Parts: sequence; C-alpha cells; structure tokens
Amino acid sequence: MTTTILESIPEDTGRDFVPCPRQKKTQSDLLAAIKEIQYIRDLDTLLENILHEARMLTGADAGTIYLEAGGRLFFSYIQNDTLFGKGHSKNKYLCGVSSMPVNKSSIAGYAALSGESLLIDDVYDIISPVSYNFNPSIDQFSTYHTQSLLAVPLITCAGTVVGVLQLINAKDTEERTVPFSMQDRLVISQFAATAADALEKSKLAREMILRLVDTLEFRDPRENSCHAHRVASYAVELYEEWAGCRGIDPHELRIKKDHLRTAAMLHDLGKTGVDASVLCGSSLDGNEDYQNKMHTVYGARFFHRFTSPWDKTAYDVAIGHHEHWAGTGYPGRVNIFSDKPVFGAGRRGKEIPLAARIVAIADTFDTLVAHNEDERFDEGAYKLIAERSGSWFDSELVQIFLGQKDSLTAIRKAHCETR
Ligand SMILES: [Fe+2]
Ligand SMILES: [Fe+2]
Repeated sequence: MTTTILESIPEDTGRDFVPCPRQKKTQSDLLAAIKEIQYIRDLDTLLENILHEARMLTGADAGTIYLEAGGRLFFSYIQNDTLFGKGHSKNKYLCGVSSMPVNKSSIAGYAALSGESLLIDDVYDIISPVSYNFNPSIDQFSTYHTQSLLAVPLITCAGTVVGVLQLINAKDTEERTVPFSMQDRLVISQFAATAADALEKSKLAREMILRLVDTLEFRDPRENSCHAHRVASYAVELYEEWAGCRGIDPHELRIKKDHLRTAAMLHDLGKTGVDASVLCGSSLDGNEDYQNKMHTVYGARFFHRFTSPWDKTAYDVAIGHHEHWAGTGYPGRVNIFSDKPVFGAGRRGKEIPLAARIVAIADTFDTLVAHNEDERFDEGAYKLIAERSGSWFDSELVQIFLGQKDSLTAIRKAHCETR
C-alpha cells in the first residue's frame, strides 16, 4: 500500500474499493466554522468547538488537540464518534495529564517543531524515511483502528505554536475510511490560524482565573484549583444534559456553557473577603457565621457591574449558590452595598437563577466527596443530594445529576488532588 506523507495524495492507493465522493466544503463553510469559535472565551468550550468544527470541515471520525506547555504537548481534548458516539462532547475527561515532548519522534511533536502539517494515508504504513512514528497505544487499548491522519500545528499570528490539531480517519459518504485530501489540509491550515489565536487568548484568560482561585486558596485550602475545575465541570455537564432534554438551541447552549464554566470556577471568590480563621473554623458563633455567609455578598460585589453577559452569570452564581429551593438558604434579598448587609428571606424555586441552582448541587457534591479517594463514598453523597431534592435542590436538576454518575466519576479522576 502506498503512503503519502506531506506532499501528495497517491493516484492508486491499492485499496480494494473505490472511495465514495466526499462532501465538498466551501469557503462559506470555513467562514461559518471560524465564526463558531470566535465568540467563545472559555478554554474547555473552545477546545471542544475547535475540534468539532475541524472534524465537520473534513469529515473526520476522530480527533485530538494537544496544547503546548514548557516544551511538551499535553493531550488536552479528544473526540471519537466510533468509540464514544456522535455526541461531540462525550468522554472529554479521558484525556488526563499525558504528554509528550515537542520533538521529531512523534507525529504531533514533529508538526509542532517543524511548523508543518502532516498528511498521512495510513499510519501503519509509513514508508518514507522520516523521523516520526505513529504511537498505537490508543488503538491497542481500544477496538479502534487509526488509518488516515492529518496533523496541523496551531500557530498564532505572532508565530507562537500553542498546540497541534490532529484529525483521524476521514470518512467518505458511505462512512468508509479514506485519506484526507490536500483541500482538507488547506482548509484546516486556514482554520487552525484562527483557532490558535482564540486558544492563546482563552489560555491567558484561564490562567488569570486560576490565579484568582489561587488567591482564594490562601484563605481556604479547600477552595483550590482542583475544586474549581471539578465544580465547573460538574456544573457544565449538568447544564448540558438539562439543555439537551429541553431542546435548547445549540448556539445558545454553547454560549451558556462558556459563561457557566468560568462563573462556576469563581463561585466562592467572595471568600477572599472573609478571615481565614472563620473559613477554616469548625464551630462558628453567630458573628462568625454571618461573616462566613457574607462571602456570597462579597462575591456579588466583584461581578455587579455587568460589563458583559458573563458578569451576570458570575453574579448569579456568587450570590445564589447557597440559596435553597425551599427558601431556607442565604443570603436572600439583600442590599449588597450596605455597610452591614441584612440577609432577607431566602429566595426560593425558580427565583434562584438556573446557574446558581446548578452550582449549588455541583459545589455540595464536591465538598462531600473531594477528600475521600474511595469512589464507594460517592454513593453517600448521591444519597444526601437525593434526600435534599426539592428542599435544598431543584428536583429536576437532581434527577439529571444522579443519572450522570459515570461522567462525574471521570471528572473526579481528571481533577484529583491526590493524583
Ligand atoms: Fe460558597
Ligand atoms: Fe466551593
């Protein structure tokens, strides 16, 4: 079998079938894909959408995004329709922390180092004298068979390599694996330039958010970046399922997810205004309890200017994540700018914004399970969440949450402090 590397598609691939024509993508498809990623700010949502749009442009069955950090490429996002089904956000938590050096021995490493894209017909039949090899580990640990591959470096306008976009197994109109075309390579190279700039901006924004979380950790060690990531991921997972059940428009879903993840990461930022002795104390007197609860008000003050739609979500989450569905939570209606805010009667039911109702469940769950490595302990937490359904928590959301145990466990493993 002939293998094409870099230069051209072979005229005769030696395959025992004639590939069906592939759907041609036009310039307007490319522009539409670029538009779909330009408004996204959150790093995880952006990775998901870049990979999804790139796969739609090329008809790729699977794909991976590697992000560069400190001379290594981190396996940051994966999609695979054959292994995980067509839901393009499924199983994203499988990535873990594996990484490889940026050097010429791997396909992605070569693309990052050379700045060149690689187009390979069959990764098991690389016959040219090249320095890189295909790493078959995913194929070996699954039933998947990787064949055609297109790896494109993600290079910003300023020339910084932020990662590599790798697409796997182009499909023809009858779902048979065929080589990627030169047109695919051209289209994805153009798309990758925009994607790289968007990724660089969202990586910077994520770093700033994590630094805010680090500040918070000085006050309360439990409010660390792992907790922030887990709460945000649980929240997004819950929202996604809720929105899917209600048939929410995909564009709106993406925007809301984008806002929710970051807002959820900063749900307790207001604790920076509370003394560490109060936050870490075990039995609080009346005044200390008031000080502790004030973190919701301080959080609201951070985001009250509403200079962007994201601010509104962050405000809702900060002030509302300790409200209870039955009205027994705090702070209720309150003047957040008063010198000594007086908490009102707790808001109840759908008076509490959806984002806050979601984060309330995600935060409680993580607080219950975070420091116990034994997964069997999770059942106790699920039981407590179920018992509080309709009193503390929105019962519709609880029902969805309890149906997502596999994803929740995967999130815990992906953001485990003790790993
Ligand atoms: Fe809180
Ligand atoms: Fe928290």
